[in-house]
Amino acid sequence: MSADLKKQAAAAALDFVEPGMRLGIGTGSTADEFTRLLGAKVAGGFDVVGVPTSERTAALARSLGIRLATLDELPELDLTIDGADEIGPALALIKGGGGAHLREKIVAAASARMVVIADASKVVETLGAFPLPIEVNAFGLRSTTLKIEKAAAALGLSGALVKRVRADGSDFVTDGGHLILDASFRRIPDPMSLARALVDIPGVVEHGLFLGIATAAVVARADGIDVLTP
Ligand code: A5P
Repeated sequence: MSADLKKQAAAAALDFVEPGMRLGIGTGSTADEFTRLLGAKVAGGFDVVGVPTSERTAALARSLGIRLATLDELPELDLTIDGADEIGPALALIKGGGGAHLREKIVAAASARMVVIADASKVVETLGAFPLPIEVNAFGLRSTTLKIEKAAAALGLSGALVKRVRADGSDFVTDGGHLILDASFRRIPDPMSLARALVDIPGVVEHGLFLGIATAAVVARADGIDVLTP
């Protein structure tokens, strides 16, 4: 059911893509659906150049014959299509469940528009039930963890900060070579204050709060598609 809805959201987002666009391509299972549909369109002669937000997406897009460029080759993009873990009020997002939020945020910020694709289960009234991914440098991990805990406490937030590991127990290492702490704050009533506090901590590379970045969200519900705007 949810897989079907992801595909429907991805299909609806394809309408936003115009020939010749410089397109950021997101990461995750919903973005994969979009990439596969885009690949089919490209196979039919549609021309677009994609900038992938992860090595995983790059491999998928390449296997589908989608023309790719780096963000250095195309530093300004027309549109990014990407998934999200939570979509809150004003299209504030939590991203990074797939660990790609650093590149995802750089690519989205380089884009004139960012369209989020998701099934309706991702829409929430308050962000935070999904643990917030915080990408950190491995150096000084304990110190950075303490700083995050203190900054969160100052905002009335508490909860486990868990280092992400792979199924085999080894550290999850991002495409950028960093670690991820997943912060279970449960409710983040003031995401802007948390975002500002996190970027002030030197060991924090990037967090998964995307605020003021998404320009639309294509949300698939059992009874149809909603296009949300901030
Ligand atoms: C990847 O790092 C994430 O930001 C994804 O966009 C997010 O986790 C959504 O993934 P799914 O589409 O698989 O739910």
